[in-house]
Amino acid sequence: MEFSTRTIHAGQPSEPGTGSLIAPIFQTSTFEQDAPGSHRGFDYSRTNNPTRARLEAVLADLEGVQHAAVFASGLAAENAVLQAWLKPGDEIVIPLDVYGGTYRLLNKVHQPNGIVVRQVDVADTAAFEAALNARTRLVWIESPTNPRLLVYDIAAICRSAHAHGALVVVDNTFATPFFQQPFTLGADIVVHSVTKYLAGHSDLIQGAVLARDAGVVEPIKFLQNATGAVPSPFDCWLTLRGLKTLELRMLRHAENAEAVAEALAAHPLVRRVYFPGLANHPGHAIAARQMTGFGGMVSFELEGTIDEVVAFVSGRRFFALGESLGGVKSLICHPARMTHASIPPDARAALGLSDTLVRLSPGCEHRKDLVLDLVTGLDTVAAARQQVALTV
Ligand SMILES: Cc1ncc(COP(=O)(O)O)c(C=O)c1O
Repeated sequence: MEFSTRTIHAGQPSEPGTGSLIAPIFQTSTFEQDAPGSHRGFDYSRTNNPTRARLEAVLADLEGVQHAAVFASGLAAENAVLQAWLKPGDEIVIPLDVYGGTYRLLNKVHQPNGIVVRQVDVADTAAFEAALNARTRLVWIESPTNPRLLVYDIAAICRSAHAHGALVVVDNTFATPFFQQPFTLGADIVVHSVTKYLAGHSDLIQGAVLARDAGVVEPIKFLQNATGAVPSPFDCWLTLRGLKTLELRMLRHAENAEAVAEALAAHPLVRRVYFPGLANHPGHAIAARQMTGFGGMVSFELEGTIDEVVAFVSGRRFFALGESLGGVKSLICHPARMTHASIPPDARAALGLSDTLVRLSPGCEHRKDLVLDLVTGLDTVAAARQQVALTV
């Protein structure tokens, strides 16, 4: 079965009792038992729920594995992996470019409990190898990364990590299983902020963990029930609905991202564009090899001041100013003032995060409208500059 067919059919037969084409939302907390301890696969919705079970079946299928656990947020999913697989004294290696919430979870929650966090440039083979040792339990990467869209060689990272007995976790949120299949590249665990492209409509918060081996997912499944950060049946149903158009949406997001990246690259007020699909992007060759498309996200550095960036991001017609990404409605974000504001300016600079970096999540609108909105904004910045020059 091809990908788009699986998004619609995998784990989603018509409801046997009624023939309902779309499965109902099992909006229930508990299930009647036939005799004490004897139930029909479901006893309590924190432990399991038919709507959630359907969603887990589809997500596992799309990533090409058997096991999935869905959580109330991407960070709850990440936390379950970390809690399941790291004990005091264990080490985890993460890249320099990692989602800020993952960084905070590791450094403010797990590191105080005795977990050693090693942050290195995992693209630097010597530095990465030097960070691995017998205590390394997990290697955690995103690719492409947030917000600079760096691309890491997942297969090479898996080979090194496995040689040291470590499991590799890939956050596949930006690429989605449509553009990237981390398990075929050697990953042991995949995590998602389902909130983004998988659900796709900016109307819920949700996360997922996928695994190939039953032994890997078992402690994560245990925590799903034992700590209880589970999503509502309604949110699971919304994601099931969103997934049915995942391929259509991702194709449109990617087409729009490419158009936007090319228009920005041609504009004199743009210092640098980050989009793995551009031939001059440092990760272009790896992305072309390990992805089937370049994704839907674009970042760029404006050649200007912070005030100009603020004016630009605040005045767009179709790019709403907001955190998050991956919805049908376009979003724009200024990482230095928004998602990455908690990182001190010096540290941001050391990570290569310019204060004039702008992150775009082109939605599913028409590319002509999106490009025009951005170019008009840049031209307005240039005109305002000229006006100031004339009055001085
Ligand atoms: C790459 C990535 N991973 C994980 C998360 C966390 O997901 P959530 O916001 O659903 O908890 C985010 C959120 O922005 C993200 O961008």
